[in-house]
Amino acid sequence: MQIVNKLEKSYDRNLILIFEEDKNYCEYISEEGKKLIEALKEKNDFQGKKGEVLSLNFLQNGYLISMDILGFGKKENYNENIFREVLFKYLTGKKGDILVSSNNKELNNPRLICEIEGNINYSFDEFKAKKDEKLNLDFFSIENLDISEDIVLNEATNITRNLVDLPANIINPESLAQKVEELGKEYGFDVEILDDKKIQELGMNLLYNVGKASITKPKLIVMRYFGDRDSKNIVGLVGKGLTYDTGGLCIKPADSMFTMKSDMAGGATVIGAMCAVSKNKIRKNVVAVVPACENSISGEAYRPGDVIKAMNGEYVEIINTDAEGRLALADAITYIIEKEKVDEVVELSTLTGAMVVALGTFVTGVFSNNDKNYLELENSCKKYGERIWRMPLDEEFKELLKSDVADIKHMGNRWGGAITAAKFLENFAKDISWTHMDIAGTAYDNTSKWLKKGASGVHVKGLYDYCKNKE
Ligand code: BES
Ligand code: MN
Ligand code: ZN
Repeated sequence: MQIVNKLEKSYDRNLILIFEEDKNYCEYISEEGKKLIEALKEKNDFQGKKGEVLSLNFLQNGYLISMDILGFGKKENYNENIFREVLFKYLTGKKGDILVSSNNKELNNPRLICEIEGNINYSFDEFKAKKDEKLNLDFFSIENLDISEDIVLNEATNITRNLVDLPANIINPESLAQKVEELGKEYGFDVEILDDKKIQELGMNLLYNVGKASITKPKLIVMRYFGDRDSKNIVGLVGKGLTYDTGGLCIKPADSMFTMKSDMAGGATVIGAMCAVSKNKIRKNVVAVVPACENSISGEAYRPGDVIKAMNGEYVEIINTDAEGRLALADAITYIIEKEKVDEVVELSTLTGAMVVALGTFVTGVFSNNDKNYLELENSCKKYGERIWRMPLDEEFKELLKSDVADIKHMGNRWGGAITAAKFLENFAKDISWTHMDIAGTAYDNTSKWLKKGASGVHVKGLYDYCKNKE
């Protein structure tokens, strides 16, 4: 995407964004052109209702203008999600070079146009001989706009999407770690990879046990970015990195297993956020940790009934090997607090089917022990169309984690399964600010009004904005 301030070539389409009753279209249209538009509006009874399109062609200074005027409905009903919905729908299936413009200050929003261009242009086609065609959006503005931050955000979001979409025969703990090392070099953050030996030495037995049945052993991926050496404050990010979740010995039925390459989406999200944070050189310190492992089956697999000592010293009774994410995350949370000395943790995971049952696929359920940080996160996510909803953490749910044989068990009963999972994680956050985002419904195949099938890349931008605006 580029900003242009003069009409200097013929585009495949010149797209004008308007509200109902708008008369003022765009700086570059001649008086003749404006008269033609008015006449055609009248003739076709075009009002600029939400999603309505008026198409016309005319010549101006030797350039063929193939114009589409796209309506966004009444100005008083407008919000940014309507913008996303209308533009995404309009662009779906379009090809070529499009010049977008508007004379309305609400619709004149390069951040949103950039975002939707990113959503439309991302496709997972590396294993198809015939690639999907991309479209190019330019934005017409006589103001001096800087969209470099938004371009980086889209690039980072698409890195996350690609990592999630890649299948588990390509992305395993080792290859994921390798990719992050490459990204660290390219984007400018430090990467340290702890192997399974080191993981055991540190006492991260929960993580080790979840991943030990796989041929590719667990790795702890640590990413560090220090953009403000004068400050001691560090934001900690943690992302679930299950490169595949078979369920382990408590094996999943085939239909539920099919999409489990996406069980590292939380990890991919914090990786994308780190790319954005460091490429845009924000003046904050951010450390991210991804416990990467594969929940597989072999003679070495951990079992229901096992009792395992966590990194924080507590013993955990294993009930169901398919509730593996919280185990790997518990040790990652202990690690990032004790070893990386972060001041707060924001953790993302495709953690529970119960979360999908509760909120569906368009809204992420978020649990937090800190009101102020929750509200900041909500603001940041909203700005990028990432919808979140706060979930409860009542103490009764903690009682469901009482074990007969160990300090704690890792799951409760069927009811409120997303909440007992969150309560288990909260136990490892000690008394620091902790926020858990259950993206099981939103990370993959969340075909909302402005997202395609496959990996959504949701919360890369929100997390970036949250870190950037930290006090
Ligand atoms: N990775 C799954 C959760 C999940 C389900 C993500 C659907 C995306 C879509 C997680 O590891 C899991 O298997 N959770 C179990 C927990 C249960 C055994 C307590 C679940 O939700 O069924
Ligand atoms: Mn599982
Ligand atoms: Zn899982």
